Amino acid sequence: MAILGARRTVDGNATSGQEARTVHCEDAVAWLSRQPVWEGWSAITSLPDVSEVAMELPAWRAWFVDCAALLLSRVPPDGVAVFYQTDIKREGTWVDKGYLCQQAAEREGCALLWHKVVCRRPPGTVTFGRPAWAHLLCFSRGVRVDLARSTADVLPETGEMTWSRAMGLAACVAAVRWVRENTRSHTVVDPFCGEGSVLAVANALGLSAVGVELSRRRCRRARNLRVELPEAAPPRVARFSPA
Ligand SMILES: C[S@@+](CC[C@H](N)C(=O)[O-])C[C@H]1O[C@@H](n2cnc3c(N)ncnc32)[C@H](O)[C@@H]1O
Repeated sequence: MAILGARRTVDGNATSGQEARTVHCEDAVAWLSRQPVWEGWSAITSLPDVSEVAMELPAWRAWFVDCAALLLSRVPPDGVAVFYQTDIKREGTWVDKGYLCQQAAEREGCALLWHKVVCRRPPGTVTFGRPAWAHLLCFSRGVRVDLARSTADVLPETGEMTWSRAMGLAACVAAVRWVRENTRSHTVVDPFCGEGSVLAVANALGLSAVGVELSRRRCRRARNLRVELPEAAPPRVARFSPA
């Protein structure tokens, strides 16, 4: 059963459950650079890994921090930016993307509100490539956490993924629910939206969604992705049109 019905925002307004989705097919940095501070928006995203861009590791590190800072600069004080990032191992070293996000946040005067660990493999699993877990980090300039409304720090699984670099649907639900229940945001933006998992979950939970993606094929998929949020089962893809 899909949870697509009306809901109330924190300011008491009803929403229809048929929220809007816009996907821009272009470079996210250029798009972000043109944006004003977003009123009523929060961001949930996964910045591209070094393997997805044509850069050497040092250049990518600097680009990653600049890009995260640019994104944070557009988030209003009553919104948040959530980053879902999986670390990488290179030449015998561990590249900590949580640290890179934190550098951007400090540059922009944003505080870390929470840091969750999302298991990509069951605890105890040895992985030889990417780590078995991902960071889920939430930053804000003005929002602060009410400890009485705390949520789990460790997510036991990331959930169904539409492709190998997707944010799992369970992680999307945790992030979008937090935004919905703890901010005044009516729209979620994902400037590196891939195939649109964040956008589809935002819509399913009654928020509007804006995505940006360089790949035309992924843009088409991001416009069409629909998810179901059954009450007693994990979130799942409802209709995935490969277009
Ligand atoms: C880590 S993936 C995000 C996956 C997404 N969260 C999902 O669930 O499908 C990063 C995405 O950023 C896109 N990308 C890379 N460079 C970009 C750029 N400069 N502007 C916009 N999108 C870009 C890639 O094509 C890729 O789909």
